Amino acid sequence: MNYLDCAKEYLMNTYNHLPVVFTHGKGCKVYDTSDKEYLDFTSGIGVMSLGYGNENWIKAVENQLEKIPHTSNIFLNIPVLELAKKFTELSKMSKVFFCNSGAEANEGAIKLARKYSFDKYGKGRSTIITLNKSFHGRTITTLEATGQEKFHNYFYPFTEGFKYTDVDVKSLEDTIDSTCCAIMIEAVQGEGGVNPLSKEFVNKVFEIAEKNDILVICDEVQCGIGRTGKMYGFNNYDVHPDIISTAKALGGGLPMGAVLCNEKLKDTFKYGDHGSTFGGNPVCTAGAIEVLNTISKEGFLDKVSDKGQFIKEYFKNKSSKNVVEVRGIGLMIGVEIKGESSKVQKKVLEKGLLVLTAGPNVIRLLPPLVISEEELEKGLNILYEVIESM
Ligand SMILES: Cc1ncc(COP(=O)(O)O)c(C=O)c1O
Repeated sequence: MNYLDCAKEYLMNTYNHLPVVFTHGKGCKVYDTSDKEYLDFTSGIGVMSLGYGNENWIKAVENQLEKIPHTSNIFLNIPVLELAKKFTELSKMSKVFFCNSGAEANEGAIKLARKYSFDKYGKGRSTIITLNKSFHGRTITTLEATGQEKFHNYFYPFTEGFKYTDVDVKSLEDTIDSTCCAIMIEAVQGEGGVNPLSKEFVNKVFEIAEKNDILVICDEVQCGIGRTGKMYGFNNYDVHPDIISTAKALGGGLPMGAVLCNEKLKDTFKYGDHGSTFGGNPVCTAGAIEVLNTISKEGFLDKVSDKGQFIKEYFKNKSSKNVVEVRGIGLMIGVEIKGESSKVQKKVLEKGLLVLTAGPNVIRLLPPLVISEEELEKGLNILYEVIESM
């Protein structure tokens, strides 16, 4: 049986697989079963920030794998302690809870916000406001948290207690009420079309939140860990949230998520309030330490910003007839086109380039943060040629 038939036969139909099976990768390139080379502008949806085969990351993970791959969270392990200290310091937060994915991080963030409000105000103040076009995950609760109607189907009953606002100050003011305990935002909406929030809107979120003792949760699952040229997406704005949820790039290719909180919330979770068997797994945390070591090196994130600028300049100089807008921050870029993004995705794949989509008309670029300008230019030439030929 060939690989694609095997997928059709045995995997549930949740993904529309592109017709390629990858076997290995090196740097910013991946190779399929016939050894064809592809330049990767996806990083496995924002995960492989250090690229493939990073020697320090592999050494750290292999070393930990040999020592001890797992301990229950009723015991401590060395990497989880090292990571907790490094990560909270880099994030300017007080404490962290480790988990395995973005959805799980958001579940933890939502629980934490609701517990804080319950402890202080009692029942009836548990509503979380999220933004239209947001994406927060695939569990029953995070689907409901996602501000896109198409996700609120089939799986009833969803978790109660979510309201949605447009990215608009008036809409936000109209949505807030006395039942509200938190507002959850992505500084740059990824799945929703690569939409950076405006400074005016973000400032208003924090201003209203502070006035009403409402918590701000920044979902940094996609835009965090250096993706935008800063540690977090919100660092591009002059704000600091109460809670950060993060995942994807944190583990450098291994499943890893985290919820970070500030001083106000550091004792909100008590013994038994939350947990996760694999959360803080020593192998994944050893990998995450190496990711943080790399992105916190002097000048690393400035280069990410420069490379983002390089992409924007490229399209500006070409002034393509089929490109509507190029937006985003750092190496989180959305290219809105006149045609169908999925068609472009398939066409560039044939020519050896991997890109993502974010809706019907947006090509999403999330290349490894370590990509070179030469590689960027090579991939952009392929992309431009296909967009122009449509
Ligand atoms: C902003 C955001 N939050 C949450 C998630 C869910 O993450 P995961 O797929 O790791 O559960 C995603 C995934 O794309 C995301 O982009």
